[in-house]
Amino acid sequence: MKRLFPITPALLCLLGGLSIAVVEAAAPADPPAKTEAAPAASAAQVNTFNRLMTPKSDRNQPPPLDGIHDPEGPGTKTLQAPRDAFSALPKSSGGNYVNWVQALKDKAINPRYDRLNPKEEPMIMELDIVREVKGFMPDVVYPHDRHTQWLDCSNCHPDIFVPQKGANTISMAQILMGQKCGVCHGKVAFPVSECRLCHSKKKDQALLKK
Ligand code: HEC
Ligand code: HEC
Ligand code: HEC
Repeated sequence: MKRLFPITPALLCLLGGLSIAVVEAAAPADPPAKTEAAPAASAAQVNTFNRLMTPKSDRNQPPPLDGIHDPEGPGTKTLQAPRDAFSALPKSSGGNYVNWVQALKDKAINPRYDRLNPKEEPMIMELDIVREVKGFMPDVVYPHDRHTQWLDCSNCHPDIFVPQKGANTISMAQILMGQKCGVCHGKVAFPVSECRLCHSKKKDQALLKK
């Protein structure tokens, strides 16, 4: 008998992995749906750099176990475990599960803007950049204010973004590969799973129907 589609175990695995990725992205709080094609072990290893897949028990591990700090380093064991440090901060549904924007607003944290000068104040810029997105996803609003509270202009300009509205091509594929917004989002800022934080501007319904 001839098979129409040669479905290899690797392809099944990929399909299973993809379906889990979609479930996780849509509802980060729910445990991933179990499908026969995707063993739990392989699902846990997908895209861990973007921290979309971390099972609850592995989140915010103590420094010697987090895979970032050198477990042999003399300072590693003296660092406060993030689970303790973060327990009093406002929660979010992704990344390291802290809403850092809210934490700063509530003055729950008081980060130093300059490592050497405790009196240095950030230069906050109030400028939103709207990037129109083709298709059904809401448009992206890039807020300068919530970035310049933490970052210097030179962290982004000109190496990541030319400072001119529309001069940069940005795509989800680049972001997932750790470029453009993905230089930070998924690494040191909230991850790509939080679609609505970036895609926050509803489209004009009348325009959508045309
Ligand atoms: C986290 C990254 C980031 C930081 C930090 C940042 N910007 Fe931007 N900036 C952007 C992005 C993204 C755009 C939009 C580029 C585009 O649309 O192609 C932009 C656009 C601009 C523009 C163009 C505006 C226009 O209407 O054409 C100017 C000017 C600008 N930024 C100045 C600054 C200044 C001054 C600072 C520091 C106070 C700063 N930016 C900090 C990411 C950043
Ligand atoms: C860190 C911010 C950020 C997050 C989080 C984010 N996006 Fe995007 N997205 C963008 C930017 C920026 C663009 C490019 C817009 C443009 O064309 O200038 C984009 C573009 C898109 C596009 C247009 C086609 C493409 O691939 O570029 C789609 C569809 C999309 N995003 C879907 C999603 C979905 C679904 C999620 C959640 C799983 C998501 N995005 C999360 C910033 C984000
Ligand atoms: C140089 C690092 C960096 C880059 C590049 C960057 N961001 Fe951010 N972004 C941050 C940090 C840090 C925060 C604040 C901490 C957090 O929310 O996780 C933040 C916060 C935000 C917020 C505020 C979310 C809220 O809770 O209000 C939005 C929206 C956002 N980023 C969108 C984008 C988009 C869209 C891009 C690309 C055009 C981008 N960022 C590029 C570092 C960056």
